Amino acid sequence: MSAVIFDIITIFPAFFQGPFSHGMVHQAQKRGLIEVNLHDLRDYAFDRHKTVDDRPFGGGEGMVLKPEPLFGVIRQLREHRQRLSGKVILLTPQGKRFSQRMACQYSTFKNVVLICGRYEGVDERVIDCLVDDEVSIGDFVLSGGELAACVLVDAVTRLLPGVLNNRSSITNESFSENPLGDRTDAGPPLLDYPQYTRPKDFEGLKVPNVLISGDHQKIRLWRRKKALEKTLKNRPDLIEYAALSEQDKQLLN
Ligand code: 6GU
Repeated sequence: MSAVIFDIITIFPAFFQGPFSHGMVHQAQKRGLIEVNLHDLRDYAFDRHKTVDDRPFGGGEGMVLKPEPLFGVIRQLREHRQRLSGKVILLTPQGKRFSQRMACQYSTFKNVVLICGRYEGVDERVIDCLVDDEVSIGDFVLSGGELAACVLVDAVTRLLPGVLNNRSSITNESFSENPLGDRTDAGPPLLDYPQYTRPKDFEGLKVPNVLISGDHQKIRLWRRKKALEKTLKNRPDLIEYAALSEQDKQLLN
């Protein structure tokens, strides 16, 4: 069994009730393919007021998550999960950008600990001593790591064997052409080609004839051309690095 255990450390455990009670992640939990444990950071605060944050040394705006509660919860998890392989990930806009390649990698771990960053930051000693990877989900700033944790759990869960019934929908999708989804290796993927379903004519908007032609050679070529077009329009950065065939270059022109 390759179930992944997610341990999520947050000051808003209730935040996850919605996202994890629906759809694929919910199904995967019910079927024992993943396990999600929520840990309320406040439960590990050591003072009467359950303080989890404090002002930054050196001055400046905002509050910083204190080390003691985070050390407490991670140490406890380490004891519980001693036999298991895994990583401790801090979700922060200062992290490495999350990619399909990282999702693939995490899907092979037995357990993944996610610390949801909050406020203006986390005491750096936590990062130095406890955190394996700092991860960001993109170049924008969220008010906390909770949404990012949901994103990561979703992206990892759908890769686990048995979660989606149709594996080919994974291997054919954007960012899986090579299973990397970033440009550090073989060359990045293209975006997906456009899809259509019934009706063939919706208020005069017609499905491209080629898709109803039954000519699979022509359909494959059309799809490749449209994938190239969409990538050029929405993600020209991917085209720059893509390994394009001679035929691709002709299609692009
Ligand atoms: Cl992981 N956290 C926060 N607070 N903001 C982000 C992010 C994470 N990834 C992108 N922006």
